[in-house]
Amino acid sequence: MLDFLGELQRTHTCGALRVSDAGRKAVLMGWVNRRRDLGSLIFIDVRDRTGATQVVFDRERNPALHDKAEVLRNEYVVAAIGTVKKRDPNTVNKNIPTGEVELVADELRILNQAKQPPFLPSETVLPNEEMRLKYRYIDLRRDAMQFNIELRHKVAMAIRGYLSAKGFFEIETPFMTRSTPEGARDYLVPSRVQPGSFYALPQSPQLFKQILMISGFDKYFQIVRCFRDEDLRADRQPEFTQIDLEMSYPQPDRVYEVVEGFLTAAFKAAGFQIKTPFPRMTYDEAIRLYGSDKPDLRLPPMTDVRDTFAQENLSNLAVSASSPIVAICIPKVGELSRKERDDIKPLFSGRGNAKLFEDFKRLEKSFPETAAKIREKSGAQPEDLIVIVAADSKPATHPSEGGVKPEVKQHDHAVYTAAGLLRVALAQRYAAQHGAFVRRDFRFLWVTDFPMFEWDEQGKRWAAAHHPFTSPHERDMDKLQSDPASVRALAYDVVLNGTELGSGSIRIHRQDIQRTIFHALGMTEEEAHTRFGFFLEALEYGTPPHGGIALGLDRIVMILAGAESLREVIPFPKTARAVDLMVDAPTPVSEAQLKELGIQVKKN
Ligand code: AMO
Repeated sequence: MLDFLGELQRTHTCGALRVSDAGRKAVLMGWVNRRRDLGSLIFIDVRDRTGATQVVFDRERNPALHDKAEVLRNEYVVAAIGTVKKRDPNTVNKNIPTGEVELVADELRILNQAKQPPFLPSETVLPNEEMRLKYRYIDLRRDAMQFNIELRHKVAMAIRGYLSAKGFFEIETPFMTRSTPEGARDYLVPSRVQPGSFYALPQSPQLFKQILMISGFDKYFQIVRCFRDEDLRADRQPEFTQIDLEMSYPQPDRVYEVVEGFLTAAFKAAGFQIKTPFPRMTYDEAIRLYGSDKPDLRLPPMTDVRDTFAQENLSNLAVSASSPIVAICIPKVGELSRKERDDIKPLFSGRGNAKLFEDFKRLEKSFPETAAKIREKSGAQPEDLIVIVAADSKPATHPSEGGVKPEVKQHDHAVYTAAGLLRVALAQRYAAQHGAFVRRDFRFLWVTDFPMFEWDEQGKRWAAAHHPFTSPHERDMDKLQSDPASVRALAYDVVLNGTELGSGSIRIHRQDIQRTIFHALGMTEEEAHTRFGFFLEALEYGTPPHGGIALGLDRIVMILAGAESLREVIPFPKTARAVDLMVDAPTPVSEAQLKELGIQVKKN
């Protein structure tokens, strides 16, 4: 039999009571976290998001009340009314802030029952993720999820506060809109009133924020949901949240300053102090030193050790003398076992002609002088692991890997990026175990001067490396047609510990240049007009120079929470197959609904 709440009001949350409250009357409301029945005494922990407090039902004091408490089960919702009592020293629970007191109950109202959930919020062993997502409301009751969602709130509020204080307006932009080219597929929404026409959910508010600069808002931001139909990974969700901003007349430095400012505020809200300004590195340097455009600075850079080899040795080792030879040093890992070496080999498949070099130990035996120079040049200590990556002297079977047009330093790029991948894989597998990684060592970095274009092997054409509204460097404008591969963009990424947190650029504000870029991307005049006619027109009405950036809020919170997946910091995330297991979406819809939309579904 359930009780009504009536006029009853809670006086304290479940994490609030302390010894100084002893003797006070209190009314607590929450879930039954645990019930222990010691015969004449029943103890329950009543839990809410702030903590848990022990409530005691004493048969001797109140037999009827004690009987009532006997029916309580995990996750029942109760109101406990009683008097706060200091616990005997031998029953104090030092693990929780309320552990020195308990509430001696005078009254109990059972506000709701609960089916026994498939797993308990208080359990330390987690059920599988499918179960967690299906019963997300139970999963969210767990301390860790409560912590993560609160952290997300604090981080978002700190960023909002910072940007608002700096004169940015938060302005909403439409969700039902046209396609924005951010490189993923669109989620489409059919129009009922115009059958056969579709809205696209925005992959980002890119064009709207640029139009807001044309509209005179000068500084815009938005903490905004974006939608992308792309292959999902631990750090990608089909709907995710960006901290999106745009400014008029900024130099890249000004954008960096704003981002460093709000990240400082966000990390402070999470209890961490970070150092600004962040170091900067060009894209080319990042590739050469880290084999990646999102370097993890917690491990030492790679070193090109080609000059430590004598020419004749290289031919003996079947290694290309014209490509880099890259030494990767992973601190404190020692030598890899044969199995570990075999495990990492597949990383090289499809990476042009990059190959794992001779075993360093063997190299030390056959070419001791070279090996000693490599040690010295890479700064490796005796207990460090050295792995060497080079290009095979045989021509590559897949010469176009690496995202750069074939003839453009392709072999170098393949060696660097293969080495970069290996560096990260080794770090993840071994460095953490050996203490070479400090997880809470936040190493931010700006990567600048990205290439403007990437060679799209499938489409056999140039594609925008960032997006087609990014401005090329002024000094590279004349190379747009003649040498697209060498054109640098005014594009930048902010990277943290090997994760891309955000990406942005100075935009094209002139219609003639925007047209040239569309042309360089192989877009016909007509295509450009169909897709972006409204925008090209807007550019003609006095567009100020402008630029901005967007950072992934989910990724920031994931790193702050020390989580491995975005699903840990998004209240209602989707699975890797883009399914919401709780509400069971997507689902088929009724024939009537389809008919109204003028849609026919082909059945396979
Ligand atoms: P970009 O596409 O690089 O740039 O996105 C910016 C940041 O958004 C986050 N992000 C994602 N997070 C989770 N799941 C996803 N599927 C996902 N996709 C992107 C990342 C990324 O760095 N309009 C431009 C920004 C600009 O130029 O101002 C844009 O959207 O953290």
